[in-house]
Amino acid sequence: MKRFGALLALNDLSFQLRRSEILGIAGPNGAGKSTLLNVCGGSLAPTSGEIILEGERVDGLSPYQMCHRGLGRTFQIPQVFASMSVGENIAVGRMFGGGEADATDIVRFLIDACGLAGRRDERAGKVSLMTRKMIMLAAVLATRPKLVFLDEPLAGLNKDEIQVFMDLISRLRDEMDLTFVVVEHKVRALSLLSDRLMVIHFGRRICLDTPEVVVKDSQVVDVYLGTEFDA
Ligand SMILES: Nc1ncnc2c1ncn2[C@@H]1O[C@H](COP(=O)(O)OP(=O)(O)OP(=O)(O)O)[C@@H](O)[C@H]1O
Ligand SMILES: [Mg+2]
Repeated sequence: MKRFGALLALNDLSFQLRRSEILGIAGPNGAGKSTLLNVCGGSLAPTSGEIILEGERVDGLSPYQMCHRGLGRTFQIPQVFASMSVGENIAVGRMFGGGEADATDIVRFLIDACGLAGRRDERAGKVSLMTRKMIMLAAVLATRPKLVFLDEPLAGLNKDEIQVFMDLISRLRDEMDLTFVVVEHKVRALSLLSDRLMVIHFGRRICLDTPEVVVKDSQVVDVYLGTEFDA
């Protein structure tokens, strides 16, 4: 549970994450999605409840400690070190994760996988939103996480960019054996990407199942998707 004063932002919400899955999380504005990532990622302490990672309690750990336990995350508002180059941004991620100075292979792999080859020396503050998102993703992956949280990674991208980004997440899951938790309002894209989908509303989990089941769930349709969504 997470309480902000009188507001119960997360209320009796529990779920179990499976190794190597892509879990999508959707729900109306203010439902508690970002709060859930913040609480699970160590940015906010839960008011009550437990967070268990590989059999150990991790609630109360700092984001830095969570990073060393294998958690990486991106934020709803894209953030890069604007005055640094693309390559330097990714190298910062590697250092934050305690990576060795000679870990150039992983950096090269990420630069290629994220479509940043040839752009290593460009200033990160001058690139497009899509490229900024790729830099953030590559920087997070350079910390060598096992588990990655993405908060609205597709926001602001066009249809083609969304496809490229989704293909990349699937590929990275397969090739790096990662587990992803993806918060996203674009439910159609999210249901194609995710193995399971969780919908939350007023801080409560209202449905957690395969995307096919979730998008037809009557409560999900009532509170979130409405009638215009036909999957
Ligand atoms: N630090 C905070 N202090 C007080 N209230 C907060 C804080 N962070 C979030 N809230 C409140 O908690 C509720 C959940 O917010 P949260 O940002 O988790 O929603 P969300 O599902 O991510 O929404 P969105 O889709 O708009 O990003 C909202 O009512 C919000 O105003
Ligand atoms: Mg949010």
